[in-house]
Amino acid sequence: MAYPYVSDREVRVISTQFGDPEARTLAGAKQRGRYQGLKTALDMSPDAVVDIVKASGLRGRGGAGFPTGLKWSFMPKDYDKPHYLCCNADESEPGTFKDREIIRWDPHQLVEGCLIGAYAIRARHAYIYCRGEFFEATQVLARAVEEAYADGLIGDDVMGSGQKIDLTVHVGSGAYICGEETGLMNSLEGRRGEPRVKPPFPAAVGVFGMPTTVNNVETLCAVPHIVVNGSEWYRQWGSEKSPGTKLFCVSGHVRKPGNYELPLGFPLMDLIDDLCGGITNGNALKAVIPGGSSVPLLTAEECRSCALDYEGVSSCGSMLGCASVIVMDETTDIVKQVRRMAAFYAHESCGQCTPCREGSIWVTRTLERIEAGRGTEDDLDTLMELTAQMVGTTICVLSDSVAAPVQSSVLKFRDEYLALIRRGERVGTA
Ligand SMILES: Cc1cc2nc3c(=O)[nH]c(=O)nc-3n(C[C@H](O)[C@H](O)[C@H](O)COP(=O)(O)O)c2cc1C
Ligand code: SF4
Repeated sequence: MAYPYVSDREVRVISTQFGDPEARTLAGAKQRGRYQGLKTALDMSPDAVVDIVKASGLRGRGGAGFPTGLKWSFMPKDYDKPHYLCCNADESEPGTFKDREIIRWDPHQLVEGCLIGAYAIRARHAYIYCRGEFFEATQVLARAVEEAYADGLIGDDVMGSGQKIDLTVHVGSGAYICGEETGLMNSLEGRRGEPRVKPPFPAAVGVFGMPTTVNNVETLCAVPHIVVNGSEWYRQWGSEKSPGTKLFCVSGHVRKPGNYELPLGFPLMDLIDDLCGGITNGNALKAVIPGGSSVPLLTAEECRSCALDYEGVSSCGSMLGCASVIVMDETTDIVKQVRRMAAFYAHESCGQCTPCREGSIWVTRTLERIEAGRGTEDDLDTLMELTAQMVGTTICVLSDSVAAPVQSSVLKFRDEYLALIRRGERVGTA
């Protein structure tokens, strides 16, 4: 299989078919082992499937890292009410491009993961909620679902097991907030994509008011491999608390950006220097956002000792999130980058909560003022006070996502803010 930038340090479990168009067809997918996991799962009880995923230690790849088996175990154990599985393929976090690639190259891996997940939580219907802009990926996925229906892998009698599971691909309209699990459920129901107050949690009251589990694409794609090979096999990679492999989306100032599937715990600097070929033009590293634009920035110094797993990144002062590694070299204007992130979140805020709706706009305006050379040192205090009120005070954590890059940049790159402020003062007095 020809795929760029493969090295002996990458461990491919989920991304084996990237670059191989044959895997998109059902025949090609079956030749490559797809649907063996479903067969194995159907020979087990739903609870046994939950147990094996629990034992593997798989954690949700959508950002929060919540243990998948534990989440599944919150679902009711009967068939009294309809249950639903929602696969979150909304992938809109800036710097994130892994789920789209999984769907584009290996749609049957996701279909299989959804069917196993649905079986384990006793759902008769699964939805895959796709980001509206994913035109090609959605077409590839829709074709795969059609083929799987025609082959009896989805429908009234899945693989002749007597189990009924339907699967619907639903295309969103391109709103970032519909990636938040309860915003997604509202959108699926045809309502405005606004997050819901929790509790009740989705396992009790989810889509259409019924018990629901929401899982990320990458999470569900790990499941067939775990079911076929066992939880110990999966635990050969990563650490006790962060087992397995993870796709890292690397973008920014590196020579070879792209998706890299690595064992969790991989050293951040080895990813940048060895796998990604180092910083472009031989420049020095300035900062890294390790988990998508909603997490705190790391300084070059903090990156040196950073291991890429949930605990490792958090001990360095940030979060693994969805593992979207945005690399910034010495030429990067940090204030400009942070302003662009804040503006993105201000645009995507659904507007239900005052700290988020108003705060994200005021933060953006303050950053714009500083960037334009019209800021004062007091603005830095204002930014810290404003963002402090945006954390933990809202329905969902989009608001916290604005605060994280702003607060970390003011604390860690204060000199850059001060340089813009002082340059503006000099111009103003000239
Ligand atoms: C504002 C916001 C946007 C989110 N966007 C996504 C997304 O695009 N894809 C995703 O899988 N999870 C996203 N999440 C996380 C989901 O709410 C949810 O935790 C996740 O889909 C659960 O799947 P997992 O347990 O497999 O990680 C988002 C969360 C927030 C607060
Ligand atoms: S935090 Fe922001 S995006 Fe989330 S519900 Fe409140 S207003 Fe909407």
